Amino acid sequence: MSELRELPAWKALQAHYEEIRDRHMRDMFREDPQRFQRFSLTVGDMLLDYSKNRVDETTMRLLMDLARQAGLDDGRQRMFAGAPINFTENRAALHVALRNRVNRPILVDGEDVMPRVNRVLHQMRVFSDQVRDGEWRGYSGKPIRDVVNLGVGGSDLGPQMVCEALTPYGRNGPRMHFVSNVAPSHIAETLRLLNPETTLFIVSSKSFATEETMANARTARSWFLMHAPGARSIKSHFVAVSTNREAVKAFGIDPANMFEFWDWVGGRYSLWSAIGLAIALYIGMDHFEQLLKGAHAMDEHFRNAPLEENMPVIMAMLGIWYGNFFGAQSHAVYPYGHYLRRLPQYLQQADMESNGKSVDRNGERVDYATGPVLWGGAGTNGQHAYFQLIHQGTHLVPCDFLGAANSQNPVDNHHEMLLANLFAQAKAFMMGRSEAEARAEMEAQGMDAAAIERLLPYKVCAGNNPSNVILYRRLTPRSLGSLIALYEHKIFSQGYVWGLDSFDQWGVELGKRLAGEILPRIEGDTPVDEFDASTNGLINFCKGLFE
Ligand code: F6P
Repeated sequence: MSELRELPAWKALQAHYEEIRDRHMRDMFREDPQRFQRFSLTVGDMLLDYSKNRVDETTMRLLMDLARQAGLDDGRQRMFAGAPINFTENRAALHVALRNRVNRPILVDGEDVMPRVNRVLHQMRVFSDQVRDGEWRGYSGKPIRDVVNLGVGGSDLGPQMVCEALTPYGRNGPRMHFVSNVAPSHIAETLRLLNPETTLFIVSSKSFATEETMANARTARSWFLMHAPGARSIKSHFVAVSTNREAVKAFGIDPANMFEFWDWVGGRYSLWSAIGLAIALYIGMDHFEQLLKGAHAMDEHFRNAPLEENMPVIMAMLGIWYGNFFGAQSHAVYPYGHYLRRLPQYLQQADMESNGKSVDRNGERVDYATGPVLWGGAGTNGQHAYFQLIHQGTHLVPCDFLGAANSQNPVDNHHEMLLANLFAQAKAFMMGRSEAEARAEMEAQGMDAAAIERLLPYKVCAGNNPSNVILYRRLTPRSLGSLIALYEHKIFSQGYVWGLDSFDQWGVELGKRLAGEILPRIEGDTPVDEFDASTNGLINFCKGLFE
């Protein structure tokens, strides 16, 4: 049996699970009027209400025992100290250094990384000010109006999600476009909207070797050169964000237009680095720094608060409770707000690429569940789509509801309606609708007894589906920074307890390599027979349809 499952706290949780599994949260709330106070906490303006979880004080105590026995106390300190917690690649994971607004020295291989971090932040400020103020001119002397970020995964999802989330702060910025997919229609549709004289391309790639991004960058460059007077114009229209200086130069981008970051920044943790250049261009560097500040506040909380009062740790351990003891296989995130609609997609990479692993730090295959399938979408839309499954389906889907107390766009009572729906759904997931309540409702509608009996089983909602509610004053750069950092540390905490390396992604390499092998065989004329029967069949079928 794995070390984790041998821990006394794990065993105690297993026994405790047998006692609590059939208890209904309705009863827990009835028995304890202080449940909200007991199971909620704030960090700055942000509230986490975790009272609608299938826990009591014993559960929380045992979950924190588990965190401690799994070494999380030490783990978080090691992360902040720049220890090589990305152990398969022997690297630190120091996204916290990128937003270390107090400049506490953080050493990697004996060298303080803060001067380098601050140098790039300064470079981003100078450049983004120039573009936003219209001082940076295109080849024909016109200012930049459109910015296209060419990147994929962490080099796309973070900047895109943040730009969308902070739309109200981008009103004076350029129009933003994000091209990630190698599907030709993505770049083609984007280029159709653009004027080469007033467009800036950011080639965002940590490795500067990701095939999809490089293909899009080459296409953008060819399109640009069809219009621009010569290759010299590239320097005012193409910049790069990368760790790979040589490849940037080889692509033809002036190294003076390169914004550097480092191998101790993971792709899916990189929006705080120069990968956030698109964000800085859109909302301005002051707002970008507010984003960093918000994240830093959450970092300080995560680093210093005792595990029992630690927001990311509480969320992490609740996830472990459901995944490892209740057998829940997914976790949903429902932002109640239009601007945050892309958050679940962003978190899919953050969570699933981090903790979708099955070998622990001793090189052993784990014998317990690890990262959940993460999904979700904007409220209230989900209520009219997939919420039915949670109300009455057969899966337990723990979830997070997110909401701002104030809207960026007050219109009539829309925002109050939004909040009412958020609170109602969280309550409905918890309470459900009992037989007696369903019967009473139908009687009140004047239905006859036979119809009531026939419909009754269909009307009952079991409830007891757990949820967290996270509330904040307003969606600002600062609160968004805190929110993203909250999830980052939750993911790290879970990965640490599971004994995983949350900062590598070896699985992704396999598909990349196979695509490299298959591409030349798609392009050739001859039928293919060297792969498995299905792959051969699919390629040959396509060849038959090529026009
Ligand atoms: O999909 C794997 C991955 O390596 C992600 O981790 C990363 O965010 C993405 O590809 C993009 O990589 P790069 O920034 O090197 O182009």
